Amino acid sequence: MFLKEVYVNRRDQLKKDLNSGVMLFMGNSDVGMNYPSNVYRFRQDSSFLYFFGIDQPNLAAVIDPESGEDILFGDDVTIDDIIWMGPQPSMRDKADRVGVKGVLPYNKLSEYISDVIKKGRKVHYLPPYRDNTRIKLNQMLGIAFENLKQEASVDLIKAVVKQREIKDKYEIEEMDKAANIGYTMHYTAMKMAKLGMVEQELVGVMEGISISEGTMPSFPIILSQNGETLHNHMHHQILTENRLLVIDAGAETNMHYASDFTRTLPSGGKFTQQQREIYTIVSTANQLAIDMIKPGITYREVHLSAAKVLAQGLINLGLLKGDLDEVVANGAHALFMPHGLGHQMGMDVHDMEDFGEDFVGYDNVTKRATQFGLKSLRMGKELKEGHVLTVEPGCYFIPALIEKWKNEGINSQYINFDKLKDYYTFGGIRLEDDVLVTATGCRLLGSKRLPITVDDVEREMSQN
Ligand code: GLY
Ligand code: MN
Repeated sequence: MFLKEVYVNRRDQLKKDLNSGVMLFMGNSDVGMNYPSNVYRFRQDSSFLYFFGIDQPNLAAVIDPESGEDILFGDDVTIDDIIWMGPQPSMRDKADRVGVKGVLPYNKLSEYISDVIKKGRKVHYLPPYRDNTRIKLNQMLGIAFENLKQEASVDLIKAVVKQREIKDKYEIEEMDKAANIGYTMHYTAMKMAKLGMVEQELVGVMEGISISEGTMPSFPIILSQNGETLHNHMHHQILTENRLLVIDAGAETNMHYASDFTRTLPSGGKFTQQQREIYTIVSTANQLAIDMIKPGITYREVHLSAAKVLAQGLINLGLLKGDLDEVVANGAHALFMPHGLGHQMGMDVHDMEDFGEDFVGYDNVTKRATQFGLKSLRMGKELKEGHVLTVEPGCYFIPALIEKWKNEGINSQYINFDKLKDYYTFGGIRLEDDVLVTATGCRLLGSKRLPITVDDVEREMSQN
């Protein structure tokens, strides 16, 4: 937990930004895996953590900007809870640690909210993403399940994004820690990878590191020699000669801040000539993007510049053809990179994606595109000092997508479909780093950068 003042100041800022109605923050509860008391690892709601800091289930809180009052709703433990879970601090103690004056039992929440509604005041809530929360909101507010997301408070979403997207010095320290754990996870996998191993062995070790140094991976580890499937969670294959292993993984610290790195390794430690050529294009795009990031530029401009590096590289190899600007303007390169350059990151690996991506990655000036590829860019808007972003260009050869474009004649004037036959078993490459936007540019998070050049990766792996 941060210092009490951090939470008090954050709530005070909310009270200034939203001065009417009552803000309701729902904490998360435990979720049963196969029966109610055998639960998934508990994960508190990130906005609840941000404003109230308490990392425990079955809590809710309100902020009343008109009276200035903050109230935490939750129950003190019973003797049965103490027998199974040990002694716990009282609700009063927990509230004091984060500077909250009001404490009420959880079953008073419905009554409190019903009083607010009776007085004709608005209840501002964030879009729910868990069924328990949906049920509770439905019961308290009388809003149908299917309308809960669209009736969430846009004013509250905007006020929360405004604060959470600019990381303060305490958060940056945590994000550096998350990056360092992510580094150890990836570096260990890079040193362990050997032909004959099963992919799952690497996943287990990486996940173990994330748990021993933090809470857990920041999302289920993506690790596969079929890296052309962007989010591949199947880890059953044996590492075999001349394949590419995409590893996309990060850690969550004990304070729940995330990292998210991707490296692509040659399965046997040495890239083939074909792999080297594509890898170098992607690593050049990654570096160009990092070099461009600074306050004032939009991330869409950075994405499109990285796309141009990719397209030019593929034109040089004869896989794309025509005028570079036209190729990119028509989205022909998106056959090879159907995703965006990156996203914001904080307590969520895709920060605040539960609110809706457009509230986080776009604004009144930069609107989301509709074109294939570009529409998948999660962060498009102007960058500010304090933003944390991922930079993750990639190049993939997805046979089903190539066949579809070929059969439907999509961008066919820019694509050399015959030559692409040689790449149907290539797989994919993605290279991802995490950066903090500074006053004049950006810096990589973490104390060391994972090896990224062809030579550095081969050198590391030659000693495996
Ligand atoms: N690292 C997974 C993603 O960004 O979607
Ligand atoms: Mn990512």
